[in-house]
Amino acid sequence: MSGKPAFQRILLKLSGEALMGQLNFGISPDVTSFLAHEIKGVIESGVQVALVVGGGNIFRGEGLARAGMDRVTGDHMGMLATVINGLALQDAIERVGVPVRVQSALRINEVCEDYIRRKAVRHLEKGRVVIFSAGTGNPFFTTDSAAALRAIEINADLMLKATKVDGIYTADPKKHADARRYEELTYDEALSKRLGVMDQTAMVLCRDHGVRLCVYDMDRPGALQAIIGGDLSIGTRVH
Ligand code: GTP
Repeated sequence: MSGKPAFQRILLKLSGEALMGQLNFGISPDVTSFLAHEIKGVIESGVQVALVVGGGNIFRGEGLARAGMDRVTGDHMGMLATVINGLALQDAIERVGVPVRVQSALRINEVCEDYIRRKAVRHLEKGRVVIFSAGTGNPFFTTDSAAALRAIEINADLMLKATKVDGIYTADPKKHADARRYEELTYDEALSKRLGVMDQTAMVLCRDHGVRLCVYDMDRPGALQAIIGGDLSIGTRVH
């Protein structure tokens, strides 16, 4: 990227499914390696990077919930899945030579640091990637809500949601050939049209705290670089 980045501190939300790549389950080393290289490029541009990762590639509660599993237990299992993903990303990012710390909203000190906001901000200021795992640490909240919360807490200039398509569409583009991509949306529009960008809690949090969001295609090489250079037209902007 030439020139000064348009953002100083970003928070990137990755779904757990994003880490599967071509696999049906678990973590694809090709994907973690690709992401690590993309993130390295962003860090080298002088932008601070925080990550929030989901856990759906390892554990999804719905099936077990239908079979009667307690919702809170299912959510705790999902939170632990995000820690596993956080550790995999930590390993991949470290292997491309970028310093990184995993923090967890649940206390599991033998495995990673606790989430401490001020410590996270110091890590970011020192050029370390910080991976926020275990969601918000509470059941009944999604990792999208965790991403919104952490983005607000660390004063991120931009929240990015990495998806398999290049933005938000009027309908699912994989099912509807005439689906149209939005270049820009307000949170109120996304909420009233019930566009499946993020769950409503996450969107309301972002709206009420003025978080700028860009939904983009994570598989497109260089997309992150373009976005931090200020080109948000590569995805859909929500504000
Ligand atoms: P500075 O404050 O800048 O020195 O940050 P630092 O992270 O390098 O120093 P610190 O001494 O806090 O951590 C050293 C290493 O221990 C880092 O890899 C941390 O991620 C890790 N670490 C720190 N706290 C914990 C913890 O509670 N549990 C685990 N498992 N690792 C931790």
